[in-house]
Amino acid sequence: MKGIILAGGRGTRLEPLTSVFNKHLLPIYDKPMIYYPLSVLMLAGIRDILIITNENDTKFYDHLLGNGDDFGININYEVQKKADGIAQSFLIGKKFIGNENVCLILGDNIFFGYKFSDLLNSAVKLQKGGIIFTNFVKNPKDFAIGEFDKDGKLISLEEKPKIPKSNHAITGLYFYDNDVINIAQNLKPSPRGELEITDINKAYLNKNLLKAFDLGRGFAWLDTGTHASLLDAGDFVRTIEDRQGLKIACLEEIAFNFGWIDENILIKRIEKMKNSPYSLYLKLLLNK
Ligand code: TTP
Repeated sequence: MKGIILAGGRGTRLEPLTSVFNKHLLPIYDKPMIYYPLSVLMLAGIRDILIITNENDTKFYDHLLGNGDDFGININYEVQKKADGIAQSFLIGKKFIGNENVCLILGDNIFFGYKFSDLLNSAVKLQKGGIIFTNFVKNPKDFAIGEFDKDGKLISLEEKPKIPKSNHAITGLYFYDNDVINIAQNLKPSPRGELEITDINKAYLNKNLLKAFDLGRGFAWLDTGTHASLLDAGDFVRTIEDRQGLKIACLEEIAFNFGWIDENILIKRIEKMKNSPYSLYLKLLLNK
């Protein structure tokens, strides 16, 4: 399975923070935002990753993450010239995806919860159709919303509904079979001029090929699109990390634990970031 992080967009709600570069490089406490979705793909065991960014930003991501060698993964970059919608990822990434299945994650989504790795490990085994994840929210009018029948089966999807049928928002993590490229190629832009991910999901749902898993109330799904939510996400990460002494989305830790990088790379990273608590954390890992 291939992985895509969609990290373009305008970030208009975060201006002037996003005047110089886009939001996925902004800090969420102790690391750049893009680390969080990247860690999700890595936890799913996905090592071929495409980052889609705005034209002017590719160089910053390349500087930060390079070709992925430091994390034991392959990172490719593509540009989304204009924010024409989330589903455009599959057109931009068509060549990269090739004949494989694909997992898409939005660059501003943060996931944290018990047994998340197990959930990812089962999703990555997808053979046919699509898998999405929902989470309960208090403001359903702001999200794509799923409706479930009494047996917990997804029966409808609606983008930012005026009268929501539930509070179960569709999160920014999607697994699809290779047919997603075909579906994306046949999409028409919505009234707001975007290729909608909800239309992709509806296409799978109409064929009875879409599964939705609710992440449950013990799970944290945060997005970081406003000044307040950006700060909240940073506070959340700080609280958990301070309490546990364990980091959320430490890419080197994931790679080292999976055996994707050896001690030499870890030492190189420790040296590069010395004087920072992040480097100290990696040092502890090395000495374990
Ligand atoms: P949004 O938060 O909907 O859009 P945005 O990031 O441009 O922010 P704003 O609304 O403040 O202008 O996007 C959700 C995520 O998807 C975010 O990580 C950016 C990404 N995205 C793209 O990269 N390209 C797109 O065409 C769209 C619609 C979103």
